[in-house]
Amino acid sequence: MGETLAGLKRTHSCTDISVSNVGEQVTIMGWVQKQRNLGGMIFVDVRDRSGIVQVVANQEENAEAFRKAAALRSEYVIAVKGKVQKRAPGMENAKMKTGEIEIAAEEIRIFSKAETPPIYIEENLDANEAIRLKYRYLDLRRPDMQKNFILRHKIAKIVRDFFDANGFLEVETPMLIKSTPEGARDYLVPSRVHPGKFYALPQSPQIYKQLLMVSGFEKYFQIVRCFRDEDLRADRQPEFTQIDVEMSFVNVDDVIAINERLLAKIFKEILGLEVKTPFKRMTYREAMERYGSDKPDLRFGMELVNVSDLVATCGFKVFTSTIENEGSVRAINVKKGSEKFSRREIDGLVEIAKKFGAKGMAWIQVEESGIKSSIAKFFSEDEMKAILERVEAEPGDLICFVADKNEVVFDALGHLRLEIAQKLDLIDKSEFKFLWVTEFPLLEYDEEEKRFVAVHHPFTSPMDEDIELLDTHPEKVRAKAYDIVLNGIELGGGSIRIHDQELQSKMFGILGFTKEQAEERFGFLLEAFKYGTPPHGGIAYGFDRMVWLIAGANSMRDVIAFPKVQNASDLMSEAPNIVDEKQLKELYIKLDI
Ligand code: AMO
Ligand code: AMP
Repeated sequence: MGETLAGLKRTHSCTDISVSNVGEQVTIMGWVQKQRNLGGMIFVDVRDRSGIVQVVANQEENAEAFRKAAALRSEYVIAVKGKVQKRAPGMENAKMKTGEIEIAAEEIRIFSKAETPPIYIEENLDANEAIRLKYRYLDLRRPDMQKNFILRHKIAKIVRDFFDANGFLEVETPMLIKSTPEGARDYLVPSRVHPGKFYALPQSPQIYKQLLMVSGFEKYFQIVRCFRDEDLRADRQPEFTQIDVEMSFVNVDDVIAINERLLAKIFKEILGLEVKTPFKRMTYREAMERYGSDKPDLRFGMELVNVSDLVATCGFKVFTSTIENEGSVRAINVKKGSEKFSRREIDGLVEIAKKFGAKGMAWIQVEESGIKSSIAKFFSEDEMKAILERVEAEPGDLICFVADKNEVVFDALGHLRLEIAQKLDLIDKSEFKFLWVTEFPLLEYDEEEKRFVAVHHPFTSPMDEDIELLDTHPEKVRAKAYDIVLNGIELGGGSIRIHDQELQSKMFGILGFTKEQAEERFGFLLEAFKYGTPPHGGIAYGFDRMVWLIAGANSMRDVIAFPKVQNASDLMSEAPNIVDEKQLKELYIKLDI
């Protein structure tokens, strides 16, 4: 049986002990990192959250402590009481914070033994992630993982302190809410008390934070869990955490200003970096035109160049017919790409473009001796010269072209740009490039549903100057919406909201809801708006993404204590799982699989 704490009190964390404690009696508690038996002396590295300290048990000086030390194995949980002493000359370890001292054991207690763990408890472990996740509690013992969570805690604290100091209230909002599917799929929770009825878990507190503005709270924030049943990717978890913010009486610039202060503070306090404010801003349209993405990574160039006008009458049918059909032909200039990529590698680039929807990717290798190209024969000398000038080609460069509908061109060249930057190692990993992307389209047409859907969400306000277009050209209406992008990752997004009941009803109409459907789903919000609604707006950050980027962790899962994997399951607890027949019965649920 394990020993107890009786009569023993922890006096120090392992790494709180230094040469200034030499001669003092201390008691530490933690896990055995390793034990080395050198005959009459046993050395034990003891680890707690702070780090590691060395314990030495000497057979001659303390036979009982020596006997206990001899029994220790990795990951046993122990207490050591003893005197701090300087290590013998030559035995110091400059790499350890406690490398100058050790504790001479007078008493060792074994609280619990441990089986050999299935993963090593060490930094930078190169183990299969599935095993790490199955034994997550052990994985979390590793110092680099603990560092991530200390960081996560610190960032959350800075966020709370910042909003508190600026007059925001943290208000909790419900987790069991009405399903208002729009955006991702809801997670549903059946009600026992109301047979056949369901709650949904919130995809975000969006409606509630707006209602808090109606309630006169003026400035709200919350660090809050959100749930979305969507296909997972590297930067998406089914449950994730938002820093959620809403403010009354503000316009876009107000929201942006306070958030720049927040981000600058986080980066200053955590990384010691002076982030320059105001951040760069770019409209959605400009971002797409220049980078083929609404979340451009600005750490490198390789911008898209429109060459449609130059190739409109060339001899290459693919280009000319694309332009006749209101598509475009655009290019990126991969500097030194002709020198760096082999023909086979260029074929690989074509495959990447195709993966993102392009029908092909034409290319020109620019060399001192002339050009090599899959399409040169279709161009006159003048046409070729004009193209090369437009893309600022120099010997050694590789020019890649995609012709298609704008959407496809942007997506294909946007991704190609990113993948080429990876391949050529063009990205300075120590840089943090913030960008606000503004003026998103309000609506997009959903071919499947045959209706307009909100790009952001149905509560986003159109830009004042575009309101007239709502009736005639809904697809042209721009929104008072903004995303904050960091190094090509969407860190957060928000908008100024519609605060007018009539305009909100109209929006629901444009989104294809009948009056009754809108009433049924969002009636409580429309009702609330009848009783005096301040202009308001806000933002939400993906907190997990933020910590991930700041920590520089490999995976977003490394900053989530108990994350889910690709298929939304938890490898440790094995959730989701079947439930008892009795539980289902209570919920009036019959399975039909
Ligand atoms: P949005 O849907 O853009 O906006 O979400 C805000 C931010 O949350 C993060 N995020 C995620 N992080 C991890 N896993 C996910 N599955 C996931 N989904 C989103 C992203 C994103 O930028 N209510 C609005 C905000 C507002 O208008 O104020 C909202 O939820 O970083
Ligand atoms: P083809 O005439 O199909 O042999 O194509 C000639 C070159 O044009 C090849 O390098 C193709 O990859 C390229 N190509 C074909 N379709 C497109 C397109 N939509 N956009 C850009 N390049 C294309």
